[in-house]
Amino acid sequence: MDAHAVPVAANPKLATGPIVLLGAPGAGKGTQAKQIAVHFGIPQVSTGDLLRDHVHRNTPLGQQAQAIMGRGELVPDQLVCDMVGQRLAEPDCARGFILDGFPRTVGQAHWLDGRLQAGLLRGKPAEKVPLLVIDIAIDHALLVERLTARRTCPQCGAIYNLHFNSPRQPGVCDVDGAALITRKDDREEVIVERLKTYERETLPLTDYYQKCGTLRRVDGGGTAEQIALAIRDLLEHRGG
Ligand code: AP5
Ligand code: MG
Repeated sequence: MDAHAVPVAANPKLATGPIVLLGAPGAGKGTQAKQIAVHFGIPQVSTGDLLRDHVHRNTPLGQQAQAIMGRGELVPDQLVCDMVGQRLAEPDCARGFILDGFPRTVGQAHWLDGRLQAGLLRGKPAEKVPLLVIDIAIDHALLVERLTARRTCPQCGAIYNLHFNSPRQPGVCDVDGAALITRKDDREEVIVERLKTYERETLPLTDYYQKCGTLRRVDGGGTAEQIALAIRDLLEHRGG
């Protein structure tokens, strides 16, 4: 998807509420979350981005998370849930939010259910919209190629790919001209570990949400534009 795409003005009449994007590393959660955020006018809450920011700022959480992320493992539930709880309490989340990369364990899903049931993450009763979980399903054989070719902008967070969505000028962000970087965990040996962690810890969540009746699936093997349209269709026709 073109990082230059003209943002569609947020439509406050569209149903929002809490949205979870599930999917393996490289499935396209970040790419899609950014599009939904612009279209629906609600924030993307990426636990990976929040944790990388803690690492960058060398906070106590960042110091604990850095080595864990470097091994492709998961940061302990309590630390991540506390971080998410703080972010979701901010006023911009009142109309809804897109969780990108959270929950990632059944324990995190229970925490989220508890918060939603207690009404702590929702706006006024009239604005309540049930949780919708969208699984971006993809053949894992495609992921290593996608992730090793990913480049990101450290300033604005734009996501590029050397094969599928390259910047106009190599190594330079189209949006703000910053030098693009490669994520430290996008080395092949770490990607393999991240995929194992996903299968062990996060894949069971698809069953969990299937049983709750909140799970919808999109085919993550299409182009970013095709997937964005499929997700938008799901969100605009969600029950509520
Ligand atoms: P996180 O940053 O969430 O990483 P991830 O889940 O491994 O997912 P990625 O960000 O790598 O992939 P994505 O699905 O966002 O794909 P993207 O859109 O960028 O987490 C990092 C680490 O933080 C974890 O390993 C863990 O240690 C820790 N962590 C995070 N959350 C946690 C939690 N809840 N609990 C505990 N620990 C946590 O796309 C990938 C590439 O493909 C890009 O180059 C993109 O341009 C390209 N692309 C996207 N869509 C398409 C398409 N349709 N066709 C072709 N190319 C495409
Ligand atoms: Mg991501």
